[in-house]
Formats: sequence, structure tokens, C-alpha cells
Amino acid sequence: MNYNSILEGKHIVLGITGGIAAYKSAALCRLMVKAGAQVQVIMTPNAREFITPVTLSTLSGRPVITEFFTANTGQWNSHVDLGLWADAMVIAPATASTIAKMATGVADNMLVTSYLSTRAPVFIAPAMDLDMMAHPTTVRNLSLLRSYGNHIIEAATGELASHLTGKGRMEEPERIVKVLEEYFGTGRELAGKRVLITAGPTVEKLDPVRYLSNFSSGKMGFALAAQCAARGANVTLVAGPVSLSTPAGQIERVNVTSALEMHDAVTARAARADVVILCAAVADYRAEQTASSKIKRDGNVLTLTLVPNPDIAAAVGRDKRDGQLIVGFALETDNGLENARAKMVRKKLDMIVLNSAREPNAGFQADNNTITIIDSDGTVTPYDNKPKTDVAADIVDHIVSLMHNS
Ligand code: C5P
Repeated sequence: MNYNSILEGKHIVLGITGGIAAYKSAALCRLMVKAGAQVQVIMTPNAREFITPVTLSTLSGRPVITEFFTANTGQWNSHVDLGLWADAMVIAPATASTIAKMATGVADNMLVTSYLSTRAPVFIAPAMDLDMMAHPTTVRNLSLLRSYGNHIIEAATGELASHLTGKGRMEEPERIVKVLEEYFGTGRELAGKRVLITAGPTVEKLDPVRYLSNFSSGKMGFALAAQCAARGANVTLVAGPVSLSTPAGQIERVNVTSALEMHDAVTARAARADVVILCAAVADYRAEQTASSKIKRDGNVLTLTLVPNPDIAAAVGRDKRDGQLIVGFALETDNGLENARAKMVRKKLDMIVLNSAREPNAGFQADNNTITIIDSDGTVTPYDNKPKTDVAADIVDHIVSLMHNS
């Protein structure tokens, strides 16, 4: 692949915020221009304290935008136009303050306003002192931004402006350009393909106020939807009750609550799908009878009769058509490989993604995951612990390679 030409002609909005690392943004701007991109710089008012707009306008060949209005002409800088113009938005360095504004929608400057208006992929390179970086507020805001489908270019560990050593250094400009090149170079291997994905938990009502469910957050399934859409697929995302917004791109979201609803939504759509990814944590059982009034406490033992829910993956596997690829997940506490393999065979899947419920920083709720992919020919591919957005990229890479080999 000729990496030099991948950014050729791409419209990149480079957002610079007020941090010491802003000096590195000059090099980043220069590298992007050198790679053939058209770069429009937006600086927050504070960023001007760290690097001058003259430097950036000279390097980018375009006037830098900071204010909603250009002072001498009164011309309005349209954040909507800029958001639509962009093929990518890169915010480097991203301070804790800008990250918080982006996570919560505080649109009080051109940069955050443009961020909220753009449909393009957004890359965020945080830079701050190690304690700010580790603060739960920052961790939560970055996790929120990630869950919205943004790409976080993790800060590196090293000496910081405060002379303390820790995590918080903005990633080097060369590396940021590489991330963009990898993103755009990935291509659109799933263009024209229909991908059906299940995500999140299911909720099984016991009475009007109580239910049975599990801790699935839906993050993995939503990351997969974002990844498939980024590669050109037409995605249908059948989601159980989760508090995640639909990622950008060609994604039709179908909200369901119970396993029966998920089963009906999936079986009605599976035949048209080229790829079906069953990522949902479907409740195995539901109450035989849902009480129409709140179940009263009477001090006695309460026995619930549970009946099995349909196995959606097995139903899709049973009706699998030629050329269709079916991917399942297995969350195991013990004998992972053996159990996952058995599930793949029983449900007639083409590959299964195993995650261990015992791994630290992985599985339900976590932002990261550690997976092993098992193919129907028995090949086992283990992966390192990484953010679910990157795990999604690994899974989709694997799906694409299976599609090419079939
Ligand atoms: O059998 P087990 O629940 O461990 O299998 C996990 C795989 O099967 C996952 O891909 C999950 O989404 C899918 N599944 C399903 N319907 C069920 C149970 C599991 O689609 N009722």
C-alpha cells in the first residue's frame, strides 16, 4: 500500500486546544499537508496562548478559524459547513476541558460547535498532566466519547510539561498521521454488504416494575456496528435496552426489549444479511408468566418458573443460506476454548469470538476486551487486551479475511 497517497485530497479539520503540546500541532499540520491533505485549522481561544495562528495559517495555507465571526469583516464562520466539508476531524492536543465540553455538548467555541456538527470520523489525541489524565472525570469523558464512535489516540507515557513522568504526552505527530492513514487505508471492504448485528442485554419482565437481565452494556456490539459502517456496510443493529447512541454511518437501529422480541427482529431480517454478528447477551430464560400487577411480598419463599428463551444464533445458523457468514460470541468462565468450539458447532457458526469472564478489564461493562477468535476449521487466534473499538477492528478484519477465502 502506498501510504504517501492515502491522505491525498482529504479534507481535515485540525482542532488545536490550549495545552503545551500545541507546539506539536505545527508539525502535525505540516505532515498532513505534506501527505496531500487540505487542512483547516480551528484553534480554541486558549490555544492562541500556546502557538500563534500565523504559524498554523502559514503551514496550512488557510486562515485559521478561532471565533464565530471574523473580527474585521464580520463574516460568520459556519461550523455546519466546516463539519460537512471535513472527511476527518483531528483534535490534537485535546485538553481535559475540551474533552469535557465535547462529551457534554458545551458548544461555546468554534471547535466544539464544529465537532457537534460534523458527520466525519473524529480523532482525539489527549494531552494533559498525569493526574488530570487519570482523574475519573477525564476517564469517564473519554469513555463517553469513545462510546459515541470517536477514535481516541491514547496519550503516551513519558516526561510531561510539569516535569512529572506519567501518562499524558500527546502522541507524536508521525503516529497520529499513521492512525489517519490506517483508517483511510483500511478501505471499504464491506461496501454493498448487509450486516446484521445484535447487541446489549435483553430484559425479561417479571411484573410491571421488575425484570431479569444481565450486565451487558452493548459497547462491543455498538463498536462492531461503527466499524462495519466505517467499512461501507449497510448495518442493521438490533439492540437491547442500552444507554448508547447509534454510531455514525449507514446504521438502522431496531430497539427491542426481550429475547422474544430480539428473536423476531433478527429472524425477520437475517435472510437478507450477508453477515450476521450475534453479540447480544440474550437472557437464557424468561418468566413463564409475567404478572400484570406488582408481585406482593408476603414473607414466604417466592418460586419463579422460568422457561427457556429461543436461541437466536441457533435459529440463524439453522436457516443459514449459501455465502452467508455467521459470527457468534462466547463469554466463558471455565474451559473457554472447548465450550466456545462446542457452541460454534452446535449453532452452525462460521467463527466465534471468545471472551473470558475472568479477564481483568474485559467483558461486560468494560471499555476494553481480550478476545480469542476461533474459526470453523479450528484455527485459534488470540489477541491482546485493547479498547473495544480496536477489538471491533480486529474482528471485522477477520470477517473480511474469511469472506475473501470463501
Ligand atoms: O449459548 P451461549 O448463550 O453462550 O451462546 C452465545 C452466543 O449465542 C452469542 O453469540 C449470543 O449472542 C448467542 N445467543 C443467541 N440467543 C440466545 C442465546 C445466545 O443469539 N438465546
